[in-house]
Amino acid sequence: AKEPVRVLVTGAAGQIGYALVPMIARGVMLGPDQPVILHMLDIAPAAEALNGVKMELVDAAFPLLKGVVATTDVVEACTGVNIAVMVGGFPRKEGMERKDVMSKNVSIYKSQASALEKHAAANCKVLVVANPANTNALILKEFAPSIPEKNITCLTRLDHNRALGQISERLNVQVSDVKNVIIWGNHSSTQYPDVNHATLKTPNGEKSVKELIADDEWLKGEFITTVQQRGAAIIKARKLSSALSAASSACDHIRDWVLGTPEGTWVSMGVYSDGSYNVPAGLIYSFPVTCCNGEWTIVQGLSIDEFSRNKLDATAAELTEEKALAYSCLS
Ligand code: NAI
Repeated sequence: AKEPVRVLVTGAAGQIGYALVPMIARGVMLGPDQPVILHMLDIAPAAEALNGVKMELVDAAFPLLKGVVATTDVVEACTGVNIAVMVGGFPRKEGMERKDVMSKNVSIYKSQASALEKHAAANCKVLVVANPANTNALILKEFAPSIPEKNITCLTRLDHNRALGQISERLNVQVSDVKNVIIWGNHSSTQYPDVNHATLKTPNGEKSVKELIADDEWLKGEFITTVQQRGAAIIKARKLSSALSAASSACDHIRDWVLGTPEGTWVSMGVYSDGSYNVPAGLIYSFPVTCCNGEWTIVQGLSIDEFSRNKLDATAAELTEEKALAYSCLS
């Protein structure tokens, strides 16, 4: 039998946490034959709610779940974890300045970085979900220098999946037959959902999504804004954030990272830029990646037209500005 993998979920008493922990316990993240031990962290005001989630995990009698740690102590939460999904953060409240939200999250991610660095298992893989996701991940990377930078990522898979969903609706095809969209850049409204290389599986082989849709105005307009603003649309409809799809996409992100992407398929992940596609090095930026043996690699050599170039640069500029804002909060 396989040794259990320890998976940390921070903010586990929140909306996404509540959707995510049962998926992990059911094997959606790491596969149906991989036992798991869940480590759940939240803050003191949520401790009672967190304990309620733990009670439900016991009640659900998940065969793969070999233990649950539910705690408000960051050291206990981080000890020995192999995978860390960082969902906890300080939400933007009405009337708050962007700098104030950034400042709260910078201090959270700085201290959790230190705890992970000191107490997590060697080679722990980190996925940051909490917003501002790219910049929180960057702060985590800066303050956990002994964790390899390739182990620190942020979630843009939800945006990637949203783009697949929009294309499948538009073409009236199965979403599982659509692949290789790309989300470039920030998990924010400047992200660039790119369909230039996307394909549809048909009985006559793979076809270009762009050619099948054959409506440049839609692809460069409504498609992009729908994906960029989908989070806000869900909040408007549900009065709550997109927890189900965020949780499912977080499982997709980790599963593909650990178990590999299918041959010929790439996915989008926020990763530490090495300067590929002339994206400034030193940002956490969403790229198309393939994964093999637990490591991601940025897909190289894709053609970038002028429209795309401008979009890649605009979202990079926003991330550069966010990085400066985050650093100004540190001093
Ligand atoms: P939520 O407010 O329901 O849950 C957040 C939880 O984090 C709360 O239980 C809170 O007590 C906890 N928390 C706050 N500070 C903490 C700390 N220092 N340590 C541990 N836990 C802490 O929010 P929800 O809806 O679950 O969303 C969580 C985050 O995910 C938000 O930042 C949201 O913007 C982001 N998000 C990101 C997406 C992505 O695609 N990257 C998609 C959807 C949401």
